[in-house]
Amino acid sequence: MRRQGLLALLLIVFRGFAAEEPQLPCVPRDFGFGSVVCVCNASYCDTLPTPVLPSAGRALVFTSDIEGARFLRTQLSFSDNQNGTGADVARFALESTAFQTVVGWGGAFTDAAAKNILDLSPDAQDRLLSSYFSPSGLEYNIGRVNMGGCDFSWRTYTYADAEGDVELSTFALQPEDTDYKIPVIKRAEALAGRPLKLFASPWTAPKWMKTNNDYVGYGQLRTDMYQPWADYFVRFLDEYAAQGITYWGLTTQNQPYDGYLPDFSFNCMGWTAEEQRKWVAENLGPTLLQHGYEGVKLMILDDQRYQLPEWAESVLNDPVAAQYVDGIAVHWYTDQYVGPERLTQTHDLFPDVFILGTEACEG
Ligand SMILES: *[C@@H]1O[C@H](CO)[C@@H](O)[C@H](O)[C@H]1NC(C)=O
Ligand SMILES: *[C@@H]1O[C@H](CO)[C@@H](O)[C@H](O)[C@H]1NC(C)=O
Repeated sequence: MRRQGLLALLLIVFRGFAAEEPQLPCVPRDFGFGSVVCVCNASYCDTLPTPVLPSAGRALVFTSDIEGARFLRTQLSFSDNQNGTGADVARFALESTAFQTVVGWGGAFTDAAAKNILDLSPDAQDRLLSSYFSPSGLEYNIGRVNMGGCDFSWRTYTYADAEGDVELSTFALQPEDTDYKIPVIKRAEALAGRPLKLFASPWTAPKWMKTNNDYVGYGQLRTDMYQPWADYFVRFLDEYAAQGITYWGLTTQNQPYDGYLPDFSFNCMGWTAEEQRKWVAENLGPTLLQHGYEGVKLMILDDQRYQLPEWAESVLNDPVAAQYVDGIAVHWYTDQYVGPERLTQTHDLFPDVFILGTEACEG
């Protein structure tokens, strides 16, 4: 019996090594924007299978470049000695320096993304989702979800639009959630074979909670609505849990600066760092804790890095607020004006608080 067990084990190991899928190449198309995209359809999509590690002294290299390489796979050999025979690269190691831990990679499950995915044929949907989430694809492990309407929605809404409903008795997920995002998230998780680290971000509170009684433009949360707005986050997590979806994280507000701009054109709500500090310390943090959501990663800012490190200092120098905060979320707009040293400075001030890029889009 023992021998058979050993034999079976060896076979599995052997099959494991032999089982690496072939990598299907990119079918390029040039739309005239300086490089190519890879075209997928219902029967074909390029793949990026989980690599099997090469033998000792060799390295796998994956190259994507403006000339059109897309995860082009090559092997290098390396040696300890720069003059080592036949070596492509020299090996060196900074053994005493630990750099960052990568939380992962992902994309956003917006209303628009879900609708565009579901408008494809079922086979094309599967190939697209597989190319992002499955072990044959990019293995995305993070997903951002808009909490109510955002600028990638086809209408403006929140989950409690009934005027003055401070008890949130009319709170309800919308068709954008139940018919679009939730089915797509579930299929993505099934293809990933593991739960995704999902986090939710609101763009605006219901109009009636705001100083300007509108979803857009210059307007902030009314101070008498600080608690109902914290309760709204808990209701959101509860309603998604009832649909079988667990959230890994939350951001406090998408781009809080937008609601302090005159005439900002899409869903927004303004916060200063001081207002956000107070709301996290007195309302959101305690409310999440009270409802068993203290494990959900709470991220502040969710805006451009030029606001760092000041925003982080305003919130995190208050130990009451800081105890509820896990991370700092940053977007990439305006990165051309302010260098990455802002992130390093922020990290050095708050090394236990992670920094995550949460939004980057073109157009
Ligand atoms: C799908 O893409 C493959 C690879 O480019 C191509 O050979 C095939 O004709 C395409 N199928 C359709 C229906 O366009
Ligand atoms: C490697 O080769 C270079 C140039 O041929 C030589 O100057 C150098 O001393 C060599 N280094 C070692 C470690 O052999």
